[in-house]
Amino acid sequence: MRYPFISGNWKMFLNKTSGVELAKALVNGTKDVKDRDIMICPGFPLLSDVAEILAGSQIQLGAQNMYYEKEGAFTGEASAEMLMSVSCSYVLLGHSERRHIFHENNELINKKVLAALQGGLKPILCIGELLEEREAGNTESVVREQLTTGFTDVNAAHFSDIIVAYEPVWAIGTGKTATPEDADNVHSFIRKTVAGLYSKSISDEMRIIYGGSVKPDNIDGLMAKENIDGALVGGGSLKQDSFIRIIKFES
Ligand code: PGA
Repeated sequence: MRYPFISGNWKMFLNKTSGVELAKALVNGTKDVKDRDIMICPGFPLLSDVAEILAGSQIQLGAQNMYYEKEGAFTGEASAEMLMSVSCSYVLLGHSERRHIFHENNELINKKVLAALQGGLKPILCIGELLEEREAGNTESVVREQLTTGFTDVNAAHFSDIIVAYEPVWAIGTGKTATPEDADNVHSFIRKTVAGLYSKSISDEMRIIYGGSVKPDNIDGLMAKENIDGALVGGGSLKQDSFIRIIKFES
């Protein structure tokens, strides 16, 4: 049984005041929600304040990135331990904006996955193909490589803490969502790949969430698909009404 996981990625939006306000509205608006996990990823400077608002609620806190070293002279970076100390449970790793704007490659992302697990954070490994890779018929090879390298040396015992987010790069922030069928096909391929790397039981249990222009009007169709276990929502998570409706998807 894979429990639905709905997460919001605030990216570099909102400040302390507007972030705290949104967090309060989400806590109030989701009190009656049952049978699903909810998580939000505010920017680093907002984490402590948002953590205070979320304390005692069912909404969990995640960070948008981290560095793999434990500590040191790494200006501008944050370690797993720092994120744990402000109550983060999850961390997004390998988001397409990290890959494409900040040139993170699969090897670096793998080091971060290993460091997150070692530090007690649950990694959400984000993968997905560019439009030209899809059009060239390379979606599966790109995704396979992202999974194979991203999970190098990851122990099977850690898989209950790992989530994969499939986010086709051409669907992020563009208003173009993959159809539920397209997304489900790639999710099914991800599940088969993880079964090959580990085992069928691990891949059957692993949650694979979809991201890329998820909105109140497409969440129900996405969540109805067998292999879509949740959503990673950017723009649609920045307004309380929109994100609460996404959290309360019906399928
Ligand atoms: P979007 O972003 O919902 O704004 O497309 C999703 C993401 O980048 O995680």
